[in-house]
Amino acid sequence: MRVLLTGGAGYIATHTCVELLNEGNDIVVADNLSNSSEEAVRRVKKLTGRDFPFYRLDVCDARALNDLFDSEKIDSVIHFAGLKAVGESVSKPIEYYTNNLYSTLTLIEAMRAHDVYKIVFSSSATVYSVNTTSEMTEDMNTGCINPYGWTKYMIEQILRDVAKTDERWSAILLRYFNPVGAHKSGMIGEDPNGIPNNLMPCVLQFASGRLENLTVYGDDYPTRDGTCVRDYIHVVDLAKGHVAALKYMDGFSGCDEINLGTGKGTSVLELINTFERVNGLKLDYKIGARRPGDSPACFANADKARRLLGWKAQLNIEDMCRDAWRWQTMNPNGYKKGSD
Ligand code: WQD
Repeated sequence: MRVLLTGGAGYIATHTCVELLNEGNDIVVADNLSNSSEEAVRRVKKLTGRDFPFYRLDVCDARALNDLFDSEKIDSVIHFAGLKAVGESVSKPIEYYTNNLYSTLTLIEAMRAHDVYKIVFSSSATVYSVNTTSEMTEDMNTGCINPYGWTKYMIEQILRDVAKTDERWSAILLRYFNPVGAHKSGMIGEDPNGIPNNLMPCVLQFASGRLENLTVYGDDYPTRDGTCVRDYIHVVDLAKGHVAALKYMDGFSGCDEINLGTGKGTSVLELINTFERVNGLKLDYKIGARRPGDSPACFANADKARRLLGWKAQLNIEDMCRDAWRWQTMNPNGYKKGSD
């Protein structure tokens, strides 16, 4: 199978490239490198010993995208490309709606024009409304609290409506929970631009001295230790979920949403303590005020992925902490020059 990965130089996408290549698929990577590095593409080639075309393009650029489809025989698409910083989306809603929605519509048009009808979309647990319950099933109410989440929700709806127009369309919407960790080689990993917002990159940069403080945002939540609970999933498990979704699509017509999570919740303090233990470190974090918008607990019901895709997360929070730290210590400046 020949798979186009938009945003293919990104964190989850590069790990998905490795799994696809290792399973004998061919891939084509397209990325505008606005929040990623071509070094990551080079690392995937080195890691797998496989070569593949890389197109530096913006998915909003219809001409460039159609030229790619004209040049490459694509069987299916995994659509990762998009702006994804929750906080930034609140201050830049126009950029987020324009980029994320327009790029998707441009992609779908190019696919249809080239008789490509299989798409896996990188969606998010952010589409779920902040419910009183913590375990999320796919049929639960959606309702977003930031423009980033709304773009994911709206793109899901676009794909649902498009899939109804022609039975050849096959769309799987993968709702990620909290991706963390890195490939066990330490050659690819998460390389956030600027000051990170997410917990694991903050832990990593604090532990390596790139960040001055590590703050636990609130310890007075109604959870077992007072800190927020999330469903952290190893990025390699997440990547394998995409491979499983592509296989499932061979016999699937329509559009369906599927959670990709472990089904287990881990608190902020539990993650920090596990990170310290498996890596032999002591982190001098401090307890601060709650972060606006955080829900006390959120984790996946992962039954549908197991039922439909035959997929279940295999790696645990210790693997995530160990693999993330290996990436960080091997690449203290991420993919920037002189970091390997
Ligand atoms: C997890 C917990 C923080 C940093 C976000 C996006 C979501 C998805 C995953 C894309 C929270 C706490 C964090 C820190 C802390 N991304 N925390 N100190 O908010 O669950 O989800 O990333 O789809 O869309 O919203 O993840 O890692 O930001 O926070 O205490 O320095 O860690 O308060 O409770 P979140 P997170």
